[in-house]
Amino acid sequence: MARTTLTRTVLAAVSAAALFALGACSSDAGTQTGGGGETNAADDGVITLGFSQVGAESGWRAANTKSIQDTLTAENGFDLKFSDAQQKQENQIQAIRSYIAQQVDVIAFSPVVETGWDAVLQEAKDAGIPVILTDRAVDSSDETLYESFIGSDFVLEGEMAGQWAAEQYDGEGYQAVELQGTTGAAPAIDRKDGFESAIAGSDIEIIDSQTGNFTRAEGKTVMEGFLNAHDDIDLVFAHNDDMGLGAIEAIEAAGMTPGEDIKIITIDAVKDGMQALADGKINYIVECNPLLGPDLADITKKVLAGEEVEKRIVVKDEAFDQAAAKEALPTREY
Ligand code: AHR
Repeated sequence: MARTTLTRTVLAAVSAAALFALGACSSDAGTQTGGGGETNAADDGVITLGFSQVGAESGWRAANTKSIQDTLTAENGFDLKFSDAQQKQENQIQAIRSYIAQQVDVIAFSPVVETGWDAVLQEAKDAGIPVILTDRAVDSSDETLYESFIGSDFVLEGEMAGQWAAEQYDGEGYQAVELQGTTGAAPAIDRKDGFESAIAGSDIEIIDSQTGNFTRAEGKTVMEGFLNAHDDIDLVFAHNDDMGLGAIEAIEAAGMTPGEDIKIITIDAVKDGMQALADGKINYIVECNPLLGPDLADITKKVLAGEEVEKRIVVKDEAFDQAAAKEALPTREY
């Protein structure tokens, strides 16, 4: 009897301790399932968010990181845990597992590639930690693995670039080369698809297409290869500004004038790209807005408060020619 009472007392104490521990990790804002149970939002009201960034491959990425770090601050009620995956999926998976082990309140990440996420996202769901995707999508048939995806419409960006190209090149045969983003990444897949569909039926033919991994250095190297392999390139479609800027260096080194001898279309509209457009070295840029921090903060708070959030939040982008770039540059944020 005494032993039973003691056992009960010990069990009660253990349960109380476990509940206290859970309570210390549960949300003041109420319950939020994240598809797999209650979340761990802290009693002190501070939201611990683990963010796994793709890397530091481009001007766009630097602006995106700044937006997240400037918004998810202690003043705004966040404890941001940030990690840079150096463009490697295995690093992102490791970071996400570490955030799960730390019982953060929310995990957010920009997936370096589209596929291969189901297992780790299921682990987050099982741990009751909601996941928010920013910038890039995952290719998964199970949409319950994440709460929301905030980012641009990459297919539309490719289409906008292709429409401009098709309007410029009308009447004769024109040869284009394509500098693709990181192989398997959503923006590389979608921008390629969008561009190809917009130029279908036009006089433009894509004669070569390779990845430059979204970096300026690789954009330059791949463009050097294109220039060695092909005599008559009319147009470069680069999936981002940085690769376009690398292509400019290669074209100039080959003794040609970028923007005139070879026209260049890019995507992003970061300051360096916009300056090259204003200078006439790039001919057209479709924007991809990197300032996702405020939307991420807003959606995170809603998710933890148990509010319904949109599964897909599309960030609107515009496009710039030389005159528009000159006008926008003095007040450009990124
Ligand atoms: O996912 C967005 C893309 O990633 C940007 O266009 C590119 O610059 C970045 O590296």
